[in-house]
Amino acid sequence: MKCERCNTRVKPAVELQPGSSYHGFCPTCNAKIVFKSDVPTKSTLTFTLNGKPQKVQNPDPDMTLNEYIRTIAGLKGTKLSCAEGGCGACVVAITKKDTASGKDVTVPANSCLRLLAACEGLQITTVEGIGSTRTKMHPVQKTLATHWGSQCGGCSSGMVMSMYSLLQRSPQPTKQEVEDCLDGNICRCTGYRPILDAFKSFAVDADFPASTDIEDMSGVYHTPCDKLPCGQACADQCSTDRKLARLKIAADTVSWIEPVDLDDLLSIVDSHKKDKYMLVFGNTSTGVFKDQNPTLKIDVSRLVALQSTNSDHDGTLHIGAGVTIAALIDYLIQQKALSDSFETLADHLKKVASTPIRSVASWAGNVMMVHDNPDFPSDIFTIMAGANATLTVNSKSQGTKTLNFFDFLQFDMAGWVITSLSIPALKKGDHFTTHKVMKRHENCHAYINAAILINLDSSNTVQGTPTMVFGGFTPYASKSTAAAKQLAGQKLTADLIQQAADTLAQEFQPDSPAPFASVPYRRSLLTTLFYKSMLAALPSISPKVASAAKPYVRPVTSGEQSYDTDPSLYPVSQPLPKVSAFMQTTGEAQYTDDAFIRPGSLFAAFVHAEQGNCTLASVDSSAALHMDGVVDVILGNDMGVTSPVGGDGPDQEPCLVKVGDRILFNGQAYAVVLATTQAKANAAAKLVTAKYTDVKPVITTLDDAIANKSFFDAQVPPVKTGKDIKTALQECDHVIEGEVSCGSQYHFYMETQTAMAFPTDDGGLELHASTQNVSDTQLFASQATGLPASKINVVMKRAGGSYGGKITRSWFTATVVAYAANKHNLPVRCVLELHSNMRLVGKRHPFKCVYKVGTLKSKLHAVDMQWYADAGAYVFDSDGTMGQGQTACDAAYYCPNWQVVSTVCQTNTPSNTATRAPGCLPAVYMMETVMDHLAKSLKVDPSTFRQNNVYQQGQITPTGMTLRYCSLSHLWSQFLDAIGYDARKKAVDQYNANNTWTKQGFAIAPNKYGLGVGGFYHVSTHVLVNGGDGTVAVTCGGNEIGQGLDTKLAQVVAQQLGLKMEQVAVHSNTSMLHGNNTPTGGSCTSDAVSYAAIDACQQINTALKPLRSKNPDASWEEIVGMAKDQGIDLGARGWCAKPGAEGGFDYNSYGMVANQVQVDILTGEVQILRTDILFDCGQSMNPAIDIGQVEGGYVMGLGYFLTEEILYDKKSGRLVTDGTWEYKPPSSKDIPIDFRVNLLKNAPNPVGVLRSKASGEPPTCMASSVVFAVKQAIESSLKERGEMPDYLAVNAPLTPENIQQLCKVSPKQFSV
Ligand SMILES: Cc1cc2nc3c(=O)[nH]c(=O)nc-3n(C[C@H](O)[C@H](O)[C@H](O)COP(=O)(O)OP(=O)(O)OC[C@H]3O[C@@H](n4cnc5c(N)ncnc54)[C@H](O)[C@@H]3O)c2cc1C
Ligand code: FES
Ligand code: FES
Repeated sequence: MKCERCNTRVKPAVELQPGSSYHGFCPTCNAKIVFKSDVPTKSTLTFTLNGKPQKVQNPDPDMTLNEYIRTIAGLKGTKLSCAEGGCGACVVAITKKDTASGKDVTVPANSCLRLLAACEGLQITTVEGIGSTRTKMHPVQKTLATHWGSQCGGCSSGMVMSMYSLLQRSPQPTKQEVEDCLDGNICRCTGYRPILDAFKSFAVDADFPASTDIEDMSGVYHTPCDKLPCGQACADQCSTDRKLARLKIAADTVSWIEPVDLDDLLSIVDSHKKDKYMLVFGNTSTGVFKDQNPTLKIDVSRLVALQSTNSDHDGTLHIGAGVTIAALIDYLIQQKALSDSFETLADHLKKVASTPIRSVASWAGNVMMVHDNPDFPSDIFTIMAGANATLTVNSKSQGTKTLNFFDFLQFDMAGWVITSLSIPALKKGDHFTTHKVMKRHENCHAYINAAILINLDSSNTVQGTPTMVFGGFTPYASKSTAAAKQLAGQKLTADLIQQAADTLAQEFQPDSPAPFASVPYRRSLLTTLFYKSMLAALPSISPKVASAAKPYVRPVTSGEQSYDTDPSLYPVSQPLPKVSAFMQTTGEAQYTDDAFIRPGSLFAAFVHAEQGNCTLASVDSSAALHMDGVVDVILGNDMGVTSPVGGDGPDQEPCLVKVGDRILFNGQAYAVVLATTQAKANAAAKLVTAKYTDVKPVITTLDDAIANKSFFDAQVPPVKTGKDIKTALQECDHVIEGEVSCGSQYHFYMETQTAMAFPTDDGGLELHASTQNVSDTQLFASQATGLPASKINVVMKRAGGSYGGKITRSWFTATVVAYAANKHNLPVRCVLELHSNMRLVGKRHPFKCVYKVGTLKSKLHAVDMQWYADAGAYVFDSDGTMGQGQTACDAAYYCPNWQVVSTVCQTNTPSNTATRAPGCLPAVYMMETVMDHLAKSLKVDPSTFRQNNVYQQGQITPTGMTLRYCSLSHLWSQFLDAIGYDARKKAVDQYNANNTWTKQGFAIAPNKYGLGVGGFYHVSTHVLVNGGDGTVAVTCGGNEIGQGLDTKLAQVVAQQLGLKMEQVAVHSNTSMLHGNNTPTGGSCTSDAVSYAAIDACQQINTALKPLRSKNPDASWEEIVGMAKDQGIDLGARGWCAKPGAEGGFDYNSYGMVANQVQVDILTGEVQILRTDILFDCGQSMNPAIDIGQVEGGYVMGLGYFLTEEILYDKKSGRLVTDGTWEYKPPSSKDIPIDFRVNLLKNAPNPVGVLRSKASGEPPTCMASSVVFAVKQAIESSLKERGEMPDYLAVNAPLTPENIQQLCKVSPKQFSV
């Protein structure tokens, strides 16, 4: 190397290792010289997957770990659902060496966000790597299955891997740690309770400890590395490799480089400062901002120089930019003795994203996200800015700078790298508080976040100027100047707090409404969060306001379940685990997209209109067709005359809109791209463009549809019973009028719409679809392809959730893959990307009800309702939903005179469809609102009023059903006693009298839900006994969608034939065997296939009867062996097609629910303290499965009423809530803290199959009671502050925003 000053050639005094550097001096001029060895580069990635070494040549820098695991390694246990870090279905465990301790640490990570190229030297473990049903199951897998923690199984492997990772990190976790570790995993089926119970059995403080061998817990089922003599997994070797060579990949559109040290990083960044580069640490920012598309990715995840943590003598902490958020939390807690603020910051950081994100994501990545995206409501920015922290940034050419957080926002970071964060300790008298208000309790971005640092002396006088930072209110977080100045030097009194709060509300002017929270709400939160901070800072405050000063600490949840069984009926009535549960928790259960990808397969992605209510003038697919791997772009016009996804006649909905036809909603599909991988198809779909003409304004809400009289002609016959409604209303001694509405709900199945078609040798197709409707899928595939239906065999094994969303909406994907496979004579599959799914596919129907109702002597006498439902763009699924809803218009209350007139409205949104308890959920809620309104206007206790009007035995419903077995009034008093109603009600009243800013509500409601197979279900079950060994294969026309149909069916068949469960196997539903069956839905398919199974088993028993009589001592195996030899048919097809019953239903499910909630009046956040459910399952066929249905259905209902909100952009009609960042189904911390479910005991159903009752949908409706509990809490607060109107009308969902806005909080009310 040459000396830069005198040009002398100089050799280093020591031998340099590749990539290392050495400081020496020139022997001639004594100038300082840095000797640096060139770093060899390599293009082969090495890591281990389940202990097996992986070498990947030139990995695609854009490929995710998930894509590698699923499509290259062929391990299908790890799922892909949202692809944006929001659901946890893809979680795997990553083991790496901790730089501080030098030990291996295992953390969970979202494989959908982790880039494959960033896996150098890591040990990756998937669900298959820890156990299997074929070898040995890991205790976590086994426990989840045996606790009924898996229904559809779509979330199960992610749940298992989150828990597995926790146990690797912390072999003896507490129950709290167990509950916390699932904050990144969504389960739509179970309601979380069984999952939490299963995993809490591993806790040190477990109530019911798991009896597991410690050896089993290690989870070392890896195949040892064959490279090393030690025979251990080879991550050490791989990570040593890194020191020898850095990974450098040059690909077409994006390159990858891993710097070896900080100098190297600064050089690389400096030389690319004009390029679009990205420093990749966790890559989790791509879950929020997907289209970053850098041309160079620089992997900083293993740069040791960025991973240091240390503290100064004055308590200031310094944290490297390569420290993960999880490690930052740990460090802050470790250092909490130095400053109270450190624990406060740690507590807030625990609310950032989720455990799998925080475990791999850096705090630096987070603050860079807000630097580059002003609207990103970064928590880390707000709290660190509020704590007066500073950032250190470095550049190769310009050295080091220290920036405060607000200066950082303005700083041009091109060519610069964040290297560290410095957080000062608090001074004497400092009070530091932070806040985050969210739509749900975990894994949710902030509506508003805040951090406030104020110094008070002993007389409560504000010293200096407080730091008050608020995020989510303006682009970038902002710091108060005016209000902070107003506080400086003043004594902190209620008056000052009120004045400063007013100033704050004026000081921050929102320049544009954020997408998901109104300006008034955000403005109000500014003042209420400030008030909370002031209360927290003051040493002495009134006990009445004390609950506002401290955040609510949610305790560990608990659950209770009770039921009875009848051993004489076993295995029917036995609480057996689901037959597929073990396969699901080990990741072995196969879903539609898990089948082997045949060479040559094509992948399909839909192209969506970016405009609604317009004509599709032309489509330009040239750019997509030029993309590597793209094979075809199919347009609606290609698909022939018929490509419907529902209905006949003028309202027929096309699968793809044709050029020249109207596009009715933004997001409607007009083309499909076929490519060689799903990723390529998805990317190419974004390149297809269209021209739209005749663009008209869009209608996106029900209110707009009503105002514009946008109604479908087809109307549902009204409900009319009793007298003419006007006459009946005149007879009433009390009449009220009002209106109520409730919104939509996305199904949120973990497995999005998926289908796959294979051409068969006879010119037909085998079509695998995740559908609830095999028969109609066959029909629409036949229409799209022109093939006879008999040549299309639709196969459905299981769905990863559906909840009604795959009855008709599964036709889009199934129809398109059938058409494409037939056209290209190649296998074609399509897995809808989440945003595509949410934009294309309809959801729950929003409803509105305008009512006039009256009582006579406090009894319901006349109900007159005008209903409106939002069908979306096409009417097909909506008449049925309206009709079904009408059957529940009475909820559980008797009234002699009814009129319900229903209008189906058209909006420019996707066609809405069945969603768990379609129509009935809104109907029950609307009627419960009427009951609440009547009670309030009559000034009677709502619970008493409800009880006085509940159905009695023998009364007749509006649909004409005589309630012969109605037990509601009996259940009511039994329930009140069981839940200790009177004492709890008193305690709630007392709580409310003692607390101004947190209020409780306690509501009770009955439930009646019409059920039965009569008049609707036509289904078949095939039972085939194998004469060789006596085992039995069963298939049926119902689909396993998580509800436990397969298990109940196996139980029934085993019982009817007198066999053990292990002797019965349930196989896929196919249209070949079960064509012409009704779809799976409406809660009763399990009942219907059980009836058909009983029919089939009886045929077999009848056929075997002579042999049994002749050979009374022969075993089952001997009998069926004889039958086989004698040519007796050992197969039978049972059929269920029962006539409809009077009033539409065979029977009702009855139940009771009580909800006790606590509302933070200042923020609108709700905690459900306790829920009690008494549910009637008759003599349950499998009580454990039915309890799972109750809990899962109920929690889905809670989501509908509290957190889930579907919003469209009013101008473009585009769905705004189209992903997990915006749309929030309940998480595990949104469920009742104390969740008790009791199945009604000793209650056989005389008219149900095997004396049971169905369970899937009724519990969802029971969740409406939570609204009335929350409403009580709001009313209590309004009354106390003199703000209560005559009647408080509320609409669902009651999100924190809607709740807080109803509370009418004013700074004038801020007392201390
Ligand atoms: C599902 C989900 C939920 C989330 N919830 C929240 C939440 O509730 N609150 C919240 O505040 N955030 C939330 N986030 C954001 C999350 O905190 C960030 O995604 C994460 O911190 C980014 O870190 P990373 O290491 O993955 O960054 P990367 O994605 O690797 O990088 C992000 C950006 O930072 C740049 N960068 C990285 N390191 C440096 C450096 N040293 N110097 C300069 N630039 C650098 C990169 O170039 C890139 O532009 C959420 C994210 C997801 C996916
Ligand atoms: S698929 Fe990765 S978090 Fe949803
Ligand atoms: S079992 Fe959890 S999503 Fe279905």
